[in-house]
Amino acid sequence: MIISITNMKGGVGKSTITQNLAVCFAHKGYKTCIVDTDYELQTSTKWAAERADDLTKVVAFAVKNDELSKRVLALKKEFDLIFIDGTPALFELSTRAIILSDLVILPILPSIADIWTLEKFVSGYEEARSAKESMGATVSAYVLLNKFNENLNLDKEAIEVLKGFDIPVLSSTLGTRIAYRESMPQGRGVIEYKDKKAKEEMSCLADELEKIMKK
Ligand SMILES: Nc1ncnc2c1ncn2[C@@H]1O[C@H](COP(=O)(O)OP(=O)(O)O)[C@@H](O)[C@H]1O
Ligand SMILES: [Mg+2]
Repeated sequence: MIISITNMKGGVGKSTITQNLAVCFAHKGYKTCIVDTDYELQTSTKWAAERADDLTKVVAFAVKNDELSKRVLALKKEFDLIFIDGTPALFELSTRAIILSDLVILPILPSIADIWTLEKFVSGYEEARSAKESMGATVSAYVLLNKFNENLNLDKEAIEVLKGFDIPVLSSTLGTRIAYRESMPQGRGVIEYKDKKAKEEMSCLADELEKIMKK
């Protein structure tokens, strides 16, 4: 199973969510790896290098744009789950990652400027989806609200706006929490960290996705 975490925008939490989901699924017993397509920054590759040996194993590979398909297909033989950490740099690469994927997660911040980026994503996604369907395969995409504050009317309104798009919104959301920033340079996921709320919301998200995967 291949899951892409993608969005044309930087700083929406792609790498954070990739690392955390990889940790959650590794804890669930899946043999998990990360394919880091952000060749410039290599955030997930650096994160994995900080990960202590006594933690549940999650490896990351920095992959160059023209090698993506080849590398992912090779890794598929070895791993149950591959998370592709997307890059904001290349539209073409995002489309290629979507074609390779079974599931696409689109992290979005609850702001109108971010929701506007969804329009751009949808056209690329539809193109990738029909390419995939012509090969007899399927892909489904879900929006994930990151840095979401359920007490803000503005954030709740964002959900209403998002309902106007064809891409479903996951019922799990992630709040703005220091734990995400603190656990990262330690090569940990928040489920391996001390913030109970972060742990809870991330486990919730992983459970929701596992149900979708098993459908
Ligand atoms: N839910 C969150 N709460 C707090 N900080 C977050 C959260 N999600 C991401 N961040 C922080 O925001 C910054 C950008 O996140 P990152 O995952 O690197 O985004 P991207 O990969 O999309 O560029 C990082 O400093 C990260 O620690
Ligand atoms: Mg990143």
